[in-house]
Amino acid sequence: SAMKATLPTYDHFLIFAHRGASGYAPENTMASFKLANELGADYIEIDLQMTKDGHLVALHDDSVDRTTNGKGKVFLYTLEELKQLDAGSWFNEKFPKRAKVEYEGLTIPTLREIFEEFGHDVNYYIEMKNPEQYKQMEKTLVLLLEEFGFLEENESDGKVIISSFSERSLRIMYALEPSLPLVKLQTSYEVKKSTKRTFNKISKYAVAVGPSYKFVNENYVKNAIETGLQVHPYTVDDPSAIDHLEEWGVTGIFTNYIDIYERNVHFL
Ligand code: G3P
Ligand code: CA
Repeated sequence: SAMKATLPTYDHFLIFAHRGASGYAPENTMASFKLANELGADYIEIDLQMTKDGHLVALHDDSVDRTTNGKGKVFLYTLEELKQLDAGSWFNEKFPKRAKVEYEGLTIPTLREIFEEFGHDVNYYIEMKNPEQYKQMEKTLVLLLEEFGFLEENESDGKVIISSFSERSLRIMYALEPSLPLVKLQTSYEVKKSTKRTFNKISKYAVAVGPSYKFVNENYVKNAIETGLQVHPYTVDDPSAIDHLEEWGVTGIFTNYIDIYERNVHFL
């Protein structure tokens, strides 16, 4: 269909598990995604990078330095080489109180492995990171979504949401597969200068904005919603910020600490 996607009207405030349950487990690992699912997150958020040989992998940074025992840009690694790296031990060293033996030696998961693990049982919030660095990241993602049957049923159920800071990349996605719900992420700077006009432009291809939450105010949310966009702020780890956001009409939040909110009793 050539229609722009829609998202459901959800019956509760949503929790997007930022890099999985990354407050408690090494971000963007299978352990983190599994925990997010167990804790009842509405969506698991996954950052995507691409290997030298064209595999989509879950990693936030475009280099492996911070979250593995390796060094260098992801695009310089084949998947086989990337799989040699330990993506869990850094977490144990950095957060000794939350360290677990089973985090040692975790590997960087591919998006394929994540789809194989969870199938259609969870909702995915996928971010294309640094798409300008990679050859055909969008096309590769669409093909994988198609292979796992996420395109047919994705018309309006929001099982898979695709996001990016890159407008260019989102427009490529929109051209490839208009039925996928797209979200334009916004830096603090973009949030501050967003007007109705900004939202109008975004609404041509996206169904929501994902703003850095610190500069989100009532007027921002009002303008976005009046333009037909949902608002999904990141990354809210301060429970006292939630009430305002919900009051203003925000759909849900990205958080590293899925269970610290009282409201999460509803999801458990
Ligand atoms: O995708 C929303 C949020 O995750 C964007 O910021 O840097 O945590 O990927 P970042
Ligand atoms: Ca992200």
